[in-house]
Amino acid sequence: MTQQTPSFHLTFNLDPRVVAAELEKGLTATHAHCSPKYFYNALGSTLFEAITHLPEYYPTRTEASIFAEHGSEIHQCIPQQAAWLDLGAGSCQKAASLFSGTAPGVYVAVDISLDYLTDTLINLQRSHPSVKMVGVGMDFSASLNFPAALATQLTQHPIFAFYPGSSLGNFTPTESLGFLNRVASVCQQGQAGSGLLIGIDLVKSVEILERAYDDDLGVTAAFNLNVLRHINTLLGTDFDVCDWQHKALFNVAESRIEMHLVARRAVTISWGERSRTFRAGEAIHTENSYKWTIPNFTALLKKAGFAHTQYWTDPQAQYALFWAY
Ligand code: AVI
Repeated sequence: MTQQTPSFHLTFNLDPRVVAAELEKGLTATHAHCSPKYFYNALGSTLFEAITHLPEYYPTRTEASIFAEHGSEIHQCIPQQAAWLDLGAGSCQKAASLFSGTAPGVYVAVDISLDYLTDTLINLQRSHPSVKMVGVGMDFSASLNFPAALATQLTQHPIFAFYPGSSLGNFTPTESLGFLNRVASVCQQGQAGSGLLIGIDLVKSVEILERAYDDDLGVTAAFNLNVLRHINTLLGTDFDVCDWQHKALFNVAESRIEMHLVARRAVTISWGERSRTFRAGEAIHTENSYKWTIPNFTALLKKAGFAHTQYWTDPQAQYALFWAY
């Protein structure tokens, strides 16, 4: 058995000036907004992990229940000796829990934070010494261009793209189509048997949806408010979280949960030479989480270039895992 060591690639550079310009543009827009990617500083990632344990937040445990119930059928879809593309890998736990059924030929963990992946992959390699592991720091919402040598290596295997956790819901339908198009074309370059396994949160009652994003302990509220502290660090603003209130609502027409931060009183936010005054009740739109129906998401996969689809759901059809190839 060969003892492998993980290799790492960074495919983009988060220039602080680009980040500041993006944040400033959102904050000064008529309807202020900021990208949900700014939730995930160290505290934000910890708060998100806590959210996944809340009784109100059903997606994580429902996805796990689908894996538990349909594990053997799901494993049959994963090609032997595939190149696994774990998109938004984070702690790599979900993929690693599938290794025992179908070992990867090469495991490629892709995440916006390469720092986080580095420790995770070094640890994971200890328990799977013979699996070749690669960590890629990439903003895959924008592109899926791998370094040339890795791209060539991928084409020599069937590709198993893995995007669990219903994170696609944080993209608009247009962004989702673009992303799925890119994944479909990567799969087309792989060997026979390539495909995408993706977790999707489904439309359900407004009450269940809104409770999942406004829990009794206030963990989601803290997760939402924490973005203001992260913006203070990135842009030098002077947000005080006490001036803002968490709000979550299901927008039926758009089929999405929206999270907002609403000013409790009139506040002026300053940074450098600039400032913005918010009236009491004025909001910053911080996140969308789109909910799909089975027919709508099947149609989206087909439009993106996946000719075949199948799916598994829980008994209440709250959540679905799709296999598309
Ligand atoms: C990461 N993403 C799938 C979560 C969601 O459900 O949209 C983020 C989240 N926001 C509030 N709670 C969880």
